[in-house]
Amino acid sequence: MTKNDWTLPQKPLFMLRICINKRLNQHRSPSCGGRGSRELADLLERKLLELRLPVELVRGPCMNNCMKGPNLKIQGGSFFSLNGDISDSRVEEIITELQKESTKRRKNEK
Ligand code: FES
Repeated sequence: MTKNDWTLPQKPLFMLRICINKRLNQHRSPSCGGRGSRELADLLERKLLELRLPVELVRGPCMNNCMKGPNLKIQGGSFFSLNGDISDSRVEEIITELQKESTKRRKNEK
């Protein structure tokens, strides 16, 4: 892999923030990182590049919604609480929302 493989193909128009906080005491208090958000972040980043979406994925700290994580927030848009479900259908749901948001923001940019 070269450095350019991970360079965004265009200027991002908005951010997608994902909580990657991981706690060690999963039996007492779940965390997004403990429920697969780090792997989800990697997967989403690959899809963003593949689809050339103008979205910057930002890995961030706890969003105070740990019981329902992994949690993601589109800047100025939808909030996703996946409740431990990082299935393909949930990933597609997020991607579809990002595509809609990208289309909307590209129109607003003109
Ligand atoms: S650990 Fe993700 S919201 Fe708290």
